[in-house]
Amino acid sequence: MAWAMTKLVWSPLLVLLSLSMMSNASSGNGIGSPVVFSVDNYGARGDGKHDDTQALAKAWNAACSSSRPAVLLVPKGKSYLLKSLTLSGPCKSNVAFMVKGTLVAPQSRSDWSEDNRRHWIVLHGVSGLTVTGGGTIDGNGDIWWKNSCKIDKALPCTEAPTALTFHMCDNLTVENIRIVDSQQINLSVEDCSDVRLARLSITAPGTSPNTDGIHITRSKDVQVRDCLIKTGDDCMSIEDGTHNLRVSKVVCGPGHGISIGSLGDDNSRAEVSGIYIDTVQLYGTTNGARVKTYQGGSGYAKDIVFQNIIMDNVQNPIIIDQNYCDSAKPCKNQELAVEISNVVFKNIRGTTVSKDAIQLNCSNSVSCSDIVLENINLKMEGGEGETESTCQNARWRKSGNVSPLPCKNKN
Ligand SMILES: *[C@@H]1O[C@H](CO)[C@@H](O)[C@H](O)[C@H]1NC(C)=O
Ligand SMILES: *[C@@H]1O[C@H](CO)[C@@H](O)[C@H](O)[C@H]1NC(C)=O
Ligand SMILES: *[C@@H]1O[C@H](CO)[C@@H](O)[C@H](O)[C@H]1NC(C)=O
Repeated sequence: MAWAMTKLVWSPLLVLLSLSMMSNASSGNGIGSPVVFSVDNYGARGDGKHDDTQALAKAWNAACSSSRPAVLLVPKGKSYLLKSLTLSGPCKSNVAFMVKGTLVAPQSRSDWSEDNRRHWIVLHGVSGLTVTGGGTIDGNGDIWWKNSCKIDKALPCTEAPTALTFHMCDNLTVENIRIVDSQQINLSVEDCSDVRLARLSITAPGTSPNTDGIHITRSKDVQVRDCLIKTGDDCMSIEDGTHNLRVSKVVCGPGHGISIGSLGDDNSRAEVSGIYIDTVQLYGTTNGARVKTYQGGSGYAKDIVFQNIIMDNVQNPIIIDQNYCDSAKPCKNQELAVEISNVVFKNIRGTTVSKDAIQLNCSNSVSCSDIVLENINLKMEGGEGETESTCQNARWRKSGNVSPLPCKNKN
């Protein structure tokens, strides 16, 4: 029964999302029309073979120095080969980067200089920027995945580029764009404020390594809504310095789910607060709602809500791990920890493939407190056996019906 209900709720949101992906944002019409700067007027060929990097850079410079609101246009039906580039502000007026066609990354890794392999397209220091248009950003990630040390253990570990990075942007809107086969992280928001991400479709094979859908760090006042994210790693990773993030109507899977952290690596200080994750569907993900911190860090992760979440076939649906360790050898025990408090898991139901549906694994010295479990119903996928929960040093309370019964091991 639970299964059937999950499926029912599932599809309407997917349909809704795919419909909204197809509609084209209208802009550039009417009174006070912005000035349009098309890459085609700056020498771009748009055949997917010739390098159009310089053309885009020139068109950006023109748009960015326009005294009237500007549209930087990437025309529909064509594919523009772009090497790594940074488009910088400040701009004289608001710029809309209208991607109607496709931006495609080079196939060869040698097109990246040794010293900048971390980024493909960077937008830096722009205020009032909109990126939209219904087009595609294609990272051509296949070559990077094949050469990843996570796939081929004989290869050295090198960094792969993030497809789209927003750095030091204020009043940013990214809407109605597809990001496919990104080299590593798909979309990263760093040191930004007042950000809206909506109607994004981010896809790549589930087997692709280390590929986060949306990565947010050192940013505040961020909204993410109506996104479809299918990836090889975290669907969303929420890192240090994120404050006031609201996520709603996101469909995610496969991938690792929604993670806050890892925080506090290498004894660092981390601060995360005001995270609201609401109305999310996760399917086939390794984790569901997760907060993870390394031992030895400091700072806090607090005032966090995960609610109205449907999980289908998820490995670790609810997990707080203050003893996170991703190295091959066990991490040593340390006194310090990033403090975790006021985390609410509410209205969460669905299925899991591993028994441990709820895991609260907290630090010996800095326990996690004010953990609320409210109206939770997590069953084994296929209905075989009972789910369980394990807890360590957690201070929690329960409200409504919670299944599995939390913390039966009384820790
Ligand atoms: C934010 O940017 C939009 C353009 O994308 C602009 O219309 C709006 O006035 C800006 N808001 C603020 C508060 O600057
Ligand atoms: C991000 O990019 C990686 C490719 O590297 C991909 O595997 C992953 O699925 C992508 N995630 C999203 C959300 O596209
Ligand atoms: C908590 O994490 C530690 C370190 O990874 C592990 O040894 C322990 O078994 C975990 N406890 C629970 C209850 O999962």
